[in-house]
Amino acid sequence: MRQDHLISAGQLSRSDVETVLDRAAELDAALEDGDPSLRERHAGAVLALSFFEPSTRTKMSFDAAMKRLGGRVVDMGGVDSSSVKKGESLADTVRVLEGYADGLVLRHPREGAAAMAAEFVDIPVVNAGDGAGQHPSQTLLDLYTIRENAGLDDLTVGVVGDLKYGRTVHSLATALTEFDARMHFVSPESLQLPRSVRFDLHEAGAQLREHTELEPVLDQLDVLYVTRIQRERFPDENEYRKVAGRYRVDADSLNAAADDLTVMHPLPRVDEIAPEVDEYENAKYFEQAHNGVPVRMALLDLLLRNE
Ligand code: NCD
Repeated sequence: MRQDHLISAGQLSRSDVETVLDRAAELDAALEDGDPSLRERHAGAVLALSFFEPSTRTKMSFDAAMKRLGGRVVDMGGVDSSSVKKGESLADTVRVLEGYADGLVLRHPREGAAAMAAEFVDIPVVNAGDGAGQHPSQTLLDLYTIRENAGLDDLTVGVVGDLKYGRTVHSLATALTEFDARMHFVSPESLQLPRSVRFDLHEAGAQLREHTELEPVLDQLDVLYVTRIQRERFPDENEYRKVAGRYRVDADSLNAAADDLTVMHPLPRVDEIAPEVDEYENAKYFEQAHNGVPVRMALLDLLLRNE
């Protein structure tokens, strides 16, 4: 994967994805075996975490990944405790962080922020979410989870929820075109895929269909990818209330699904998956979150060695 930065899933060919997933599988096995050489792999390297929006999984799994590779982390902390509060521009912030670290992981509320940051620095930048834009490292761990459970060939994926503001959806859909997956997108009309994303998917030859109800397509799916309605991105709270709670996957609804349906969610969930589904053996969202560590280790390994 010869890339300097990871900004959008559109940068990743099928072979790039396979390179990352294969490396992740190796590192996963090394973690499992307690391989002591892991701690030497990036000893002395420093990764900067710069998160302008809340995060639990993404930030902590990058942090854990870097430490498992023997590296260290410097964390900008919340926006309230950094110089952003004093009016510093993003371009200035990232140019300063470049002097402190060998790589930068950036999350920002503005679409395009990571692409812009990458123009100002020479160290690798990973987009950990830019507004309603992209979240490509999430996609890599999603694909890793799909590969382990359903396989990436001859795949039918249903994505339900907030397709408009959900950046994990935009990245995943883009990457799935590389695997010729059939895709069913289920959302309220007001939260359909953005036009630009739909256009790019069609350009890439995607096999996609859009629906407003999940039930009619459920039995065709190998993977169901459920997403949270992204409340914080709605310009108007009333619009959010109209669609909140619109879809809820529970034990009852899963009766209509194939027995081996893999249920995924990037998390955090609000109420779109009932807690009882956690008991279902193919509910994979916690495993998916755990996969964030080996997959981000693989990504950092490749980017920091410039392989
Ligand atoms: C997602 C995000 O931040 O886009 N979370 C994550 O990184 N796992 C999804 C979400 O917030 O709903």
